[in-house]
Amino acid sequence: MTRYALQRLLSWLMIQVVLTAPLKDSLTTRDILAEESLVVTDTYFPLSRIPPTRDDLQTSRFQGQTEDGLQVRQTGPGTAPLRAIPKQTQYLMSVGIGGRNWSMIPDSGSADTWLMSSTFQCLDRSHNQQDQIACNFGPSFTGNFSGGRIADEHMNISYGGGDSLNGDMGYEDITVAGITIPKQQMSLVTSASIRGNGIFSGILGLGMRGLTTSYTGSNPANDSPATAKEYAPLVETMSKKIAPLFSVAMSRDDNRSFISFGGVPPNVTTGEFATTPIRQMSMNGGPKHYIYYGIMPDNMKVSNTEANQTWPRPVGMLVDTGTTLNYFPADVAQAINDLFVPPAVYGGEGTFAVRCDAVPPRVEIGIGGKAIPINPSNLILPETKQSTPDGDYCISGVAANAGLSILGDAFLEELLVVFDVSDKKQMKFAQRTDKTAQ
Ligand SMILES: *[C@@H]1O[C@H](CO)[C@@H](O)[C@H](O)[C@H]1NC(C)=O
Ligand SMILES: *[C@@H]1O[C@H](CO)[C@@H](O)[C@H](O)[C@H]1NC(C)=O
Ligand SMILES: *[C@@H]1O[C@H](CO)[C@@H](O)[C@H](O)[C@H]1NC(C)=O
Ligand SMILES: *[C@@H]1O[C@H](CO)[C@@H](O)[C@H](O)[C@H]1NC(C)=O
Ligand SMILES: *[C@@H]1O[C@H](CO)[C@@H](O)[C@H](O)[C@H]1NC(C)=O
Repeated sequence: MTRYALQRLLSWLMIQVVLTAPLKDSLTTRDILAEESLVVTDTYFPLSRIPPTRDDLQTSRFQGQTEDGLQVRQTGPGTAPLRAIPKQTQYLMSVGIGGRNWSMIPDSGSADTWLMSSTFQCLDRSHNQQDQIACNFGPSFTGNFSGGRIADEHMNISYGGGDSLNGDMGYEDITVAGITIPKQQMSLVTSASIRGNGIFSGILGLGMRGLTTSYTGSNPANDSPATAKEYAPLVETMSKKIAPLFSVAMSRDDNRSFISFGGVPPNVTTGEFATTPIRQMSMNGGPKHYIYYGIMPDNMKVSNTEANQTWPRPVGMLVDTGTTLNYFPADVAQAINDLFVPPAVYGGEGTFAVRCDAVPPRVEIGIGGKAIPINPSNLILPETKQSTPDGDYCISGVAANAGLSILGDAFLEELLVVFDVSDKKQMKFAQRTDKTAQ
């Protein structure tokens, strides 16, 4: 989930820093971690990957011109591309709050941690009240904050997909991967326009302080930037207990996805890391500030056996564990999708449909002087397969953005990614090598 702050995001720091690192051969993972001052930690936890259900895949035959101005390529006579709008594939983890464990989405694209309160109002998109069951959430939190409610303060958050929630603010001890973070500010949601997957109960916000969405007062209708009240999110509070960093190793394979706090998980081996600073941004014309995990790639490249293209200075990108696809500027997304063989075709709402058996191009993101390829298995999503008279179509891992460029799970899978929120404020990315080792 990317917390929605599009209109408010005024500038990226556009300075290019290109580091050139010498290539070293055959370093062991231990050498590599030592070189990066990364420690292997026991405080890691598995992530489970929940694909969308059939009903969530709102696919239909695509007809006519698209609404959003992207060029539509027909693949040949008689072909009818799919209109392909995926619901998110969610990575979930277990989090201890209030004496029990909850299934939650670890989300680097937002900073607020919340659980549905048992008394929450489920709203439709027009904010009409519906039965709670319509929101399709996992178990909800009964009772009140054990660490006390914060008077005269509330959460009011909107996510990029159009979901919005309001909730009370208070304190709870939160246990992640065996570490208990005492007195963490979080929200119990009182009203929500959002659809769950029947499993998760809330979100574990892993973003930084600038992305929190608390407001003073009790009436959300009065919320404005002037009444916003930032607070210390989990990644800040956890520095009382452990090193202020977390890392994720996601995979489309069962049982190869992990999140760890304070270090990197033990059962993952990698090649060398690319390191890049987290970029500050400004909202509402205010001073630059750490908001999203925003990075500035050196370049982007796409190639297949016939053609290639390079973007020397692409836009800034957000690293978001809670978003399924990668979202790039429309021209970049189109060029990449054109290089599948056969080419992917535009399906509306930013997404592209591609033959499930197509050959994906090689896509590389240049980060910190190194080229990080997107794993080919991330570029065609088999769990989105729809059969048509023209063959089986899947959703492409590269979509066109609606303003912000996002490196989602379809980039993060098969990488070990470190979010270092210490004073260094940097991100590290390395390709995993443990696939065959297990
Ligand atoms: C929560 O999960 C942890 C780790 O799996 C386990 O040790 C603990 O007993 C669980 N707590 C409850 C209340 O089920
Ligand atoms: C929690 O307590 C506050 C007062 O401290 C109250 O206003 C609120 O309704 C309570 N919430 C629930 C779910 O009981
Ligand atoms: C706060 O929530 C209300 C009601 O859900 C909504 O109408 C309003 O736009 C929100 N304001 C902000 C700043 O998010
Ligand atoms: C993966 O984990 C599940 C339970 O979480 C277990 O049932 C399954 O056997 C595991 N698969 C492998 C390949 O280890
Ligand atoms: C990239 O494409 C150009 C023509 O567009 C060609 O001259 C060049 O050799 C290609 N480079 C690679 C590495 O394929």
